[in-house]
Amino acid sequence: MSEKISVLIDEATIDAKIRQIGEEISREYAGKEVHMIGVLKGGVYFMCSLSQCITVPVSLDFMSVSSYGDDTKSSGVVKIVKDLDQSLEGKDVIIVEDIIDSGRTLSYLIQILKKRNPASLRLCTLLDKPDRRVVPDVNVDYCCFQIPDEFVVGYGLDYQQKYRNLPYIGVVELEG
Ligand code: IMP
Ligand code: MG
Repeated sequence: MSEKISVLIDEATIDAKIRQIGEEISREYAGKEVHMIGVLKGGVYFMCSLSQCITVPVSLDFMSVSSYGDDTKSSGVVKIVKDLDQSLEGKDVIIVEDIIDSGRTLSYLIQILKKRNPASLRLCTLLDKPDRRVVPDVNVDYCCFQIPDEFVVGYGLDYQQKYRNLPYIGVVELEG
């Protein structure tokens, strides 16, 4: 089975939107510092681009989580595979994700991170698939693009660990 990728959001559109979200964050966090948490691996490309568009001081940390459950459906119980290096105490934290799908992973992650006493905790995502949400209480503070219920790759998102390096967002079509 091979895959064909068709462009859903091109590189120029993504770059312009990330610049806009970066300016918004810079305005809203004026006089503060932003501590960004990247969720490995998918959130990394977006986090790097976004951080370069923010004009207030930025620090970065990373965490890696895996869902207990099968490959196609996340169970909502998240195992921390790699924890953060730094404390969140008193920091203005923004979680940076590639995509919010069911919302299960983020809902669980937010619960864990809130207990670490950040001064504030917000969520920023490159993509959101609102039609797929099963956990309604996930509050997305910054979202670049809402997309329909299709499986997408690129800009950090993978299909079987491939296509993360594409500079655009594409829809995967399987060809038999
Ligand atoms: P959920 O919100 O807990 O369902 O899980 C979101 C995670 O599922 C994301 O962080 C991605 O790793 C993965 N995911 C969901 N939709 C897609 C997609 O369209 N392409 C690639 N990965 C996806
Ligand atoms: Mg992810």
